[in-house]
Amino acid sequence: QIVHLADYRPTDFVLERVDLTFELDPRATRLESRLIFHRREGVDAKAPLVLDGDELTLTELRLDQNELPAGQYDLSPSSLVIRDLPETAPFEVTVITTINPEENTQLMGLYRTNGVYCTQCEAEGFRRITYFPDRPDVLAPFTVTIIADKAANPVLLSNGNFLGGGNYDEGRHFAAWFDPFPKPSYLFALVAGDLGVVEDTFTTMSDREVKLKIYVEHGKEARASYAMDALKRSMKWDEEVFGREYDLDIFMIVAVSDFNMGAMENKGLNVFNDKYVLADPETATDQDYANIEAIIAHEYFHNWTGNRITCRDWFQLCLKEGLTVFRDHEFSADQRSRSVKRIAEVRHLKAEQFPEDSGPLAHPVRPTTYREINNFYTTTVYEKGSEVTRMIATILGRDGFKKGMDLYFERHDGDAATVEDFVKSFEDANGRDLSQFSLWYHQAGTPLVTASTSYDAAAKTFELSLEQAIPATPGQPNKQPMHIPLSFALIADNGSLVNAASVSGGEVTGDVLHLTERQQSFTFSGVGSRPVLSLNRSFSAPINLDFKQSADDLVQIARHDTDLFARWQALTDLALPNLLQAARDAREGKETVCEKAFINALLEAAADETLEPAFRAQALALPSENDVARELGGNNDPDAIHSGRQAILKQIAKAGAEVFGKLFESMKTQGTFTPDAASAGKRALRNSALGYLALLDGGAERAASAFAAADNMTDMVHALTVLAHRFPDDAKTAEALGAFLKRFEANALVLDKWFAIQATIPGASALSRVKALLEDPHYAPNNPNRVRSLVGSFAFANPTGFHRADGEGYRFLASQIIGIDPRNPQLAARILTSMRSWRSMESVRANHARSALVEIERTPSLSTDVRDLIERMLKDQ
Ligand code: ARG
Ligand code: ZN
Repeated sequence: QIVHLADYRPTDFVLERVDLTFELDPRATRLESRLIFHRREGVDAKAPLVLDGDELTLTELRLDQNELPAGQYDLSPSSLVIRDLPETAPFEVTVITTINPEENTQLMGLYRTNGVYCTQCEAEGFRRITYFPDRPDVLAPFTVTIIADKAANPVLLSNGNFLGGGNYDEGRHFAAWFDPFPKPSYLFALVAGDLGVVEDTFTTMSDREVKLKIYVEHGKEARASYAMDALKRSMKWDEEVFGREYDLDIFMIVAVSDFNMGAMENKGLNVFNDKYVLADPETATDQDYANIEAIIAHEYFHNWTGNRITCRDWFQLCLKEGLTVFRDHEFSADQRSRSVKRIAEVRHLKAEQFPEDSGPLAHPVRPTTYREINNFYTTTVYEKGSEVTRMIATILGRDGFKKGMDLYFERHDGDAATVEDFVKSFEDANGRDLSQFSLWYHQAGTPLVTASTSYDAAAKTFELSLEQAIPATPGQPNKQPMHIPLSFALIADNGSLVNAASVSGGEVTGDVLHLTERQQSFTFSGVGSRPVLSLNRSFSAPINLDFKQSADDLVQIARHDTDLFARWQALTDLALPNLLQAARDAREGKETVCEKAFINALLEAAADETLEPAFRAQALALPSENDVARELGGNNDPDAIHSGRQAILKQIAKAGAEVFGKLFESMKTQGTFTPDAASAGKRALRNSALGYLALLDGGAERAASAFAAADNMTDMVHALTVLAHRFPDDAKTAEALGAFLKRFEANALVLDKWFAIQATIPGASALSRVKALLEDPHYAPNNPNRVRSLVGSFAFANPTGFHRADGEGYRFLASQIIGIDPRNPQLAARILTSMRSWRSMESVRANHARSALVEIERTPSLSTDVRDLIERMLKDQ
């Protein structure tokens, strides 16, 4: 039941070709699958062929067109084993199965969403469609024929290029597709139904015209134009930056409303959660636009990093995901503001990956065992995986990174590759040993780097002492020191950057110090006066940094660093001690006083017109309650964190009333809505100003009138959130929520926002609100987006509501998980990860959390998804 990397071996049989014929029917879809295999050289002549299966009904089985006698195969719920196969000659296995897409509530395999047939096969969904060697290292070209009722399913799609189609019997028609690029089964896709389409074309760098089609539900075509634009920009960018050209005649995207994840990179036929395709100014926020751009790019980029080069086994998931996240991050950075994008990435990494890495679910970027692969589509594999790729680029430099990528594509096109293959490409292309660096793939846990400095005026030397420690994580008590690239700058009194005459103590390349020892000191010489050190600029390494810097030094960085990320980091480092102290004060019932130095620095940045508005908005968005909890590290009381943070916000609002009032006026965007980064930045800054203004007298009126005046979804959602979260019981809130519902009742994606805003209203009363919303006629327990917007938002993004001291929030979550799991294990498991930091709560809450987890654990017939998580979360560390 547990899969080990060390057990990997290739299959006994090589798959040459796949030919699938689907006869679609909502409850009885028939699939005839013809597979041509030959025995791999050197494999025992008696070795049987083992195919994977899950919830299938086998109706016929043939070998080279002859029915297979019962004695020649074994059927179990999870496999089909065929014996006595030809020793060397290729043979054809024909498997005919029947499946029920309508009853497929797991949304893995072939299922139905709003009357449309669609598939999700990664990681192990193809075995729910037919018996097959369902693993990523089995690659073959696929031919797919789809036969279906023509009136109900005018659109019939699969991977590759369109071969042809026509009418069939009994009002049916058919379409045939051929994908010439050998692919594993997880990249298979089929879509059939009655859909609208938006069409365009892209001319590639070698002058081939590619058809682009985005399929959406009828009536939603206009909302797909931003996605189309993002797709064309992605295609161009991948040619320009990575030299990667698209390879088929057609590229298709289908948006569906029931989807367990964000999107899926099936070859030539990406399937998307419609949340990441559909947008217009009336219904989408700036964040929605940015997400669409990023995810369209991500899935498109997989065509090379994932599809042309795929993974040998699922332990290598980060080979495609970490790399592809890095690529989509770079794309967004190039399309928007690089520093603002970096700030958002780091916020996300710290909010999601750092807690995972410091709790019971911690695992290496490249794990060595798993029980349920679906539970490894984690922020560690994706986001930390991306950071590891970024560090390779930092260590090798732009050109060295490019050389390594080029070699990787050249060597491994068509392969199912490993992380070792990837790293070796960089080593060979650059003549550099990356073995110590590779520990980033293998050691879990966020390294803690402790830094201290001293300046010797007489010798004109500046010394930096560093120490690294990597915390123990499940299964990994002891860690080796890693290669940690730290970007740095020395800032002089007058704000200019200082160039030291020389540096000793270790490798330094450009503005990067290479920390490779457990303890290491770097000495900068020829430094005329005491500099301020800015360290880990741009977040060059995903670490926790313990570096006690004075408020004056942080202000100096916040004012003068040429790296905007570092300026934001300095403001955050100024904010944190205030928020921590405020939480302690709140716990003791004491009033808290925010440091003037911090408030002044923050307001100075907010008012600084030389800084882009999006950056100023990021600065004003103080560390979240979850960020504060993480910094406190344990024994957390979310109520104290919340009220402490509110107290700080109020003091900032008072001190900055004038600044915020001006920003609210001056940042108003004029004219028709455009989703570009500059306009989005202005809206973000104006809305943060509103957030502070709402803390002053007359706040509810201000928020209500901002809501009434809003002419785009960004402003509307923000005003409604401020109103609901600060004044939940005010009549104006009820009125605004009602108006919003009435206006957007027919739009599921906007309704999700309506649910999420209410699910995240702080305080103990949130739970009864969430329970009432479960009974709301607009709630949809089988729609993953809706479940995530209500139950997920509550558990992940409402610390005071969810972590109630009486444990009712946890009990509620347990009952939801137990209810969702039998229908959709992946959805249940994803929401359950909201409990991953339960041990960091104070003891009363932690005990309630444990009981809730035990209650889930005791439930009979849990899915492997949920059981795996529960057992890891309850295991003694
Ligand atoms: N490969 C997809 C993506 O990163 C996600 C697939 C998620 N699959 C899963 N079983 N959770 O775009
Ligand atoms: Zn991906």
